[in-house]
Amino acid sequence: MSTTPEDRSGLSTETIAELHKQAVAVAGQAYAPYSNFRVGAALLLATGEIVIGCNVENASYRLTTCAEQSAIATAVSQYGPTIKLRAVAVANLNGTASQPCGACRQTILEFSTPETWIFYPAEDGTIAVTSMSEMLPAGFHLAH
Ligand code: THU
Repeated sequence: MSTTPEDRSGLSTETIAELHKQAVAVAGQAYAPYSNFRVGAALLLATGEIVIGCNVENASYRLTTCAEQSAIATAVSQYGPTIKLRAVAVANLNGTASQPCGACRQTILEFSTPETWIFYPAEDGTIAVTSMSEMLPAGFHLAH
């Protein structure tokens, strides 16, 4: 028997659905005239707040901000530098499977705990869950 996203994350079906709904909604705000790949991210903070963000592209392509990074910058701006992520839900409007890119994984890691869970659209059309350590097993940590 496979473990459900609810069992793995400890989050309710309603919470997961709400995060997904908000990620889809904010993807509608994306500025993505170059890729036409509109992405939304909904963060559940450890305090219970939800913060959203979308991708913002640029004519100089490499200056694009991903949805996850946009949401995290907003969360820090709104709630300060001590935020912790309980969950991150990503969605896109193209109906494709997608997970956070490598750069976003490192950005999410910065505000993660062992109880940070990532929800994403899987190949089979369901919402899948993964842990931060599965998604980025050897992330960078700055040692002084
Ligand atoms: N994108 C995100 O917003 N998040 C990711 O994790 C992967 C990629 C955006 C960047 C760009 O605007 C578009 O998707 C296509 O790469």
